[in-house]
Amino acid sequence: MRLALLGPPGAGKGTQASRICEAFDLLHLSSGDLLRAEKLNNSPLGKKIREYIDNGRFVPDELMINIMQNKITALIRQGFVLDGFPRTLSQAEALAKMLTALQRPLWLVVNLAVDPAVLTRRFEGRRICPVCLSVYHIELMPPMVADVCDHDGARLVIRPDDLPSVVRTRIQTYHQTIAPLLAFYRSGALLCDIDASGSVDQVWGLIKNRLESCGAGNERLQ
Ligand code: AP5
Ligand code: MG
Repeated sequence: MRLALLGPPGAGKGTQASRICEAFDLLHLSSGDLLRAEKLNNSPLGKKIREYIDNGRFVPDELMINIMQNKITALIRQGFVLDGFPRTLSQAEALAKMLTALQRPLWLVVNLAVDPAVLTRRFEGRRICPVCLSVYHIELMPPMVADVCDHDGARLVIRPDDLPSVVRTRIQTYHQTIAPLLAFYRSGALLCDIDASGSVDQVWGLIKNRLESCGAGNERLQ
């Protein structure tokens, strides 16, 4: 299975990608996590990336495609869930080209559509683990011990791009770029719309049903 998740910042792409990967034994490839890891390296590339992501702007297509192409090519034998890539039409076209060349086309693109009113609350309470990158919410998905990661005991942190002013830029950028991407996947009959406004469990139930009804877990489609 090769899936991609689309959706505005805070839609739950990372949260649901983790559940899908656990349930169907897939790899989670998050473009945001890859960029944040590069940023922490403090390399010249990391410094360049920081300027974009800490201000809520997309990194240039060429750079993003290059990072994802290396990752996908190395892992192509395994099924995966792309979280946050593609995000522009030219990224989607590049992805289609690379997967066609590898004879491993995308299987489904899940579009997490969310009522904008619920997004603010999700951002305000988000915390992440700096070590394993697990995502929590202080009220809606709290860790077992406040501010501590369930998996490795690390102290949870707030993402620098979760500042309200940066969140506004991220949401605006999303709305400016999403229409051609949705049209691209709708025209290829790959797009599956999911209402992601409910609880984490409700959204997961909708995605799981949809994947199972398409034959996920069935050997023929792996
Ligand atoms: P990225 O890290 O992908 O950020 P994003 O798209 O803004 O999405 P988020 O990670 O903020 O939200 P999410 O949908 O994963 O939600 P989550 O599961 O965390 O990208 C960061 C930056 O990198 C971009 O701004 C850009 O600069 C750059 N970048 C990345 N990809 C790029 C690309 N392809 N091209 C160019 N630049 C790129 O959930 C959010 C919170 O809500 C959590 O606290 C969670 O616990 C909670 N939650 C989740 N689901 C629910 C629910 N159903 N009910 C209640 N709470 C929920
Ligand atoms: Mg995410």
